[in-house]
Amino acid sequence: MPRTLDPATRQAIAARLRFYRELGLTELYRRPVDPAPLQDLPAALSQDALEDSVLRTTTSHEETKAIPARKPAPDQTEDRESSLRIIREDIGDCTRCALHKGRNKLVFADGSPQARLMFVGEGPGADEDAQGLPFVGRAGQLLNNMISAMGLKREEVYIANVVKCRPPGNRTPEPEEANTCMPFLLRQIDVVRPEVLVALGATAATYLLGQRQPLAGLRGRVHSVRGSRLIVTYHPAYLLRDPRQKKEAWADLQIAMRELGLKLPPRG
Ligand code: URA
Repeated sequence: MPRTLDPATRQAIAARLRFYRELGLTELYRRPVDPAPLQDLPAALSQDALEDSVLRTTTSHEETKAIPARKPAPDQTEDRESSLRIIREDIGDCTRCALHKGRNKLVFADGSPQARLMFVGEGPGADEDAQGLPFVGRAGQLLNNMISAMGLKREEVYIANVVKCRPPGNRTPEPEEANTCMPFLLRQIDVVRPEVLVALGATAATYLLGQRQPLAGLRGRVHSVRGSRLIVTYHPAYLLRDPRQKKEAWADLQIAMRELGLKLPPRG
């Protein structure tokens, strides 16, 4: 017989799961609980047993023995989609930093959860704030062109930002705002697990690498972030202001293409 939980217990378990996810513990499993012994136990103990089984991670030797190896999923689309949905739900109607005050729409991400390539920008502008999608304004059009120059479609990549709410007047996010929002971006990266990340501009590079350095010293190299290779390039908004740098940006994107094994265009 399916066991239903009272609302308070459900809430407590959901809160605990959120807490674990914020710590980066995402590999949780549910072990079937034999209902008979549970029925014989006092309610508090049954809850403990249930939480215990839901919350334990698969790190201990004992558990590794007890749990049969998970079969590789033939298609991980649903897994990733639902993990991303959970992150979005955890963000909720966010008021964690001051940026929420001027927000119309929170901008979570756009693109494929299966993407091999992920772009990270700084934060939504006016168009993104109105539509709830990243890079849909002028800088977004240039990013779309950069993506198609790589021989890819926008729907094939994943796009997100350091902060999910528009900074007033498109200013750079304050460290407190960026640091508040970053755990969610890192969780998105951990779910999508792109082979290559492209940091668009200094803000994305700074928060992904965890250190502030001039862009010049970061470009032209392959960095490593959370198991993905990271390439740093100029922000499209900067390229709109100084189109002469597009050539440099294209050189950066070609590094990303090489890392992905994509065919480079013949040199002209
Ligand atoms: N600039 C960004 O950094 N991100 C967007 O989504 C749009 C513009």
